[in-house]
This record gives sequence, structure tokens and C-alpha cells, in this order.
Amino acid sequence: MRGVILVGGEGTRLRPLTYARPKQLVPVLNRPLLEHLLRHLASQGVDDLVIAGSASNRAVEHYFGDGAALGVRLRYSYETEPLGSGLAVKQAAAAFRETFVVCNGDIITDLDLMTMVARHRDTGAVLSIALAPVDEPWHYGVAEVDDEERILRFVEKPRPEEARSNLINAGTWIFEPEVLDHVPEGGARDGSLERVTFPALIDQGRRVQGFAWGGYWIDVGSPERYLQANRDLLDEEAAAVAETDVILLAEADAVIDDGAEIGGPVLAGRGVRVRQRARLLGPTVLGEGCEVEDGASVEQSVLWEDVRVGAGAHVHNSILGRGVAIGAGAVIEGAVLADGVRVDEGCILPEGLRAMPGLRLPERGREPHPATASS
Ligand code: GTP
Repeated sequence: MRGVILVGGEGTRLRPLTYARPKQLVPVLNRPLLEHLLRHLASQGVDDLVIAGSASNRAVEHYFGDGAALGVRLRYSYETEPLGSGLAVKQAAAAFRETFVVCNGDIITDLDLMTMVARHRDTGAVLSIALAPVDEPWHYGVAEVDDEERILRFVEKPRPEEARSNLINAGTWIFEPEVLDHVPEGGARDGSLERVTFPALIDQGRRVQGFAWGGYWIDVGSPERYLQANRDLLDEEAAAVAETDVILLAEADAVIDDGAEIGGPVLAGRGVRVRQRARLLGPTVLGEGCEVEDGASVEQSVLWEDVRVGAGAHVHNSILGRGVAIGAGAVIEGAVLADGVRVDEGCILPEGLRAMPGLRLPERGREPHPATASS
């Protein structure tokens, strides 16, 4: 089956991580975010895909190429400026003449697409929308459905008291080609699917079918959700391996010295080196080439490639980008440090700090502060 994956957004909520790397290539369990989606789509028989993005997504094409390594066929459609989701799909799927799948490129899910497609066909819908139940639906597009899950109304980010269900648009849709006739031509961003095209179809009485999915679904839009996705997937992988709490999933050449302490699931990538008396508390992911020095602790965090945590330093609940260097004895709590940030020895960062790529902390002449270190 054919499909379109939307990757052309700016990834603003994931900044500063997305200054140095497009969202689709940020690592989740040491593999690019988009790889998880591609593997799942392939397992569901959706294996002929157009990746719709802008010039800043060329790195995605560079990484995945024609998709053969993942068992999918990938082609790429580029917008000169972000067109909005509707026009982006219209451009990418211009040659499609049969039912196809459209996905946001920043989700991880185990959605049963094959059953969703069957329901789409049975109901004769022009459009089907996967719906995920969530605790705070008002951050998303909320669906109002009837007994057959036909969508009656769609409200984008309603006020909490106006949300009629906890079912939200999960960013995966099944399109009949004629849906694209309802995407208005026009200036950039005029063609949003959720705000323009889907409501127009419902208003015209066309059948727009919901498909509620209570399995796994997460959109990896913010640092909190990025950490959550890593934790969820690592917990799941660890549970598949053994029933104990202490699980070390290490690449063959990762070296964990005797005397290092491990608690909870930890994933250690290729070439990782963890010295004696270091403490790793999961769920934690160490990317390729990371080094955790003597007596340092890394807890419930995700480290990208080649991060160095100096002796006795403490990292908790944080995301550290490629090549980040934490000086000996430094304390990092709830931080998001982009690629190449260096933290001096003994520096205690304010909790929740977000630091731009390459920054040295503390900045000379002033104490680091969330409001000054990121923008
Ligand atoms: P934020 O700036 O943090 O909202 O990130 P985002 O734009 O990446 O996320 P959003 O939830 O707005 O978009 C959902 C998906 O649609 C993401 O995978 C985006 O890359 C993609 N997307 C958003 N706008 C466009 C667009 O104009 N063109 C294309 N091709 N894709 C888009």
C-alpha cells in the first residue's frame, strides 16, 4: 500500500535539539525517530512511501535513501517553503489513484493499520482518522464520534470544558484520493488538513470514520514526550528480554567496568565505556561512543552519541545531544543540552536548563539561566 509521511514541520517544541538535527533523525533507542515509524508501516504492508518535507529535511533522504535497508520504497517530495499539511500531501500524492495512508512523521505507534483499512473500506468512508484516547485531549484535535465511531465534529485544541471526548487525532489517516480535491489552493499554510479539509468533508456530510486505538501511541513533539518515548520503548524491550528490573542491553563492544552499578533498564550503544563506581539508573539510553567516568551517575536520561560525563558528575532526567561534555562533579537536572554543549567542572546547572548547540556553561560573566541560555 502507498503512503505519505509528513516531515516538513519546524520542530520548534523540540528545540534546542532540532537546531542541529531534523526531528525525524533524533535518536529514540539509538535509532532515528522516523525509523520506528517506517518499520511499523512496513509491518502493516504500507511499504511504498513518499516523504514530504522541505529542503532542511535533505538529511532525512541522505540517511534513509531509497529505503531498501528497511524493506520499504521511499521517494521524497520537497516544498520550497512549508506548505501546510494539506498542500504537502496534495503535492506528494498527486499521482496516487487508490486509497492511501498519510502519517505525521513524529509519531511512534503500534496502530493496527490493516484493521483500520478494512474498517475504512467496510464503512465506505472517504477519510478515516486514527483516534487515540489521552488524559488531556485539549492540547490536540478532539473528535466527537457517534456509536459507530463516525466523526461528527472535530475541534482543534478546544478549551478543556469544550472537549466532548478524550479521543484525539492521532496523526494517521486513510485517504481516498478525492480528499485532495478538498484541499484549497492558496498561500502557504492555508491548506491545513485538520483545520480546513477534514472539517469541510464533515460539513458536507461525507463519511469521515474514526478508528479508536487503545494501543501504544505517542507524538514525540516536546522534550518531555521525547524522554517518555525512550522510556516506554526501553521498558518494553527490557520486558521482552527478562522479568528482572535490572536489564543491561549493550552492544557487543560496549565496556561496562566491574564495579559500575546498574539499576533498571539501560541501553548502551556501540563503543560505550562506563567506568568503575559509575552508576546508571534506567530507563537510560547511552548513545554510541558515550563515556561515563569514575563515580559519575546517569539517571533516567537519554544521551546521544559521544557524550562524556566526567568523574563524579550527576545527570538526571536530562537529554544530552551529540558530543556534550560534562565536567567532573557537575550537576545536571532536567536539562536539555544541544549538540556540543560543554559544562565546566563543578558547575551546578539550574534545573530545566535548555542550552543552544556549542554553548559553554556557565557562560562567561553570568550565571546560566533558562531564559538566557536558550532562545
Ligand atoms: P512544532 O514546530 O514543534 O509544532 O513541530 P512540527 O511542525 O514538526 O510538528 P506538528 O505537530 O506541527 O506537525 C506534525 C507533523 O507534520 C510533523 O511530522 C511535521 O514535520 C509535519 N508538518 C508540519 N507542517 C508541515 C508542512 O507544512 N509540510 C510538511 N511536509 N510537513 C509538515
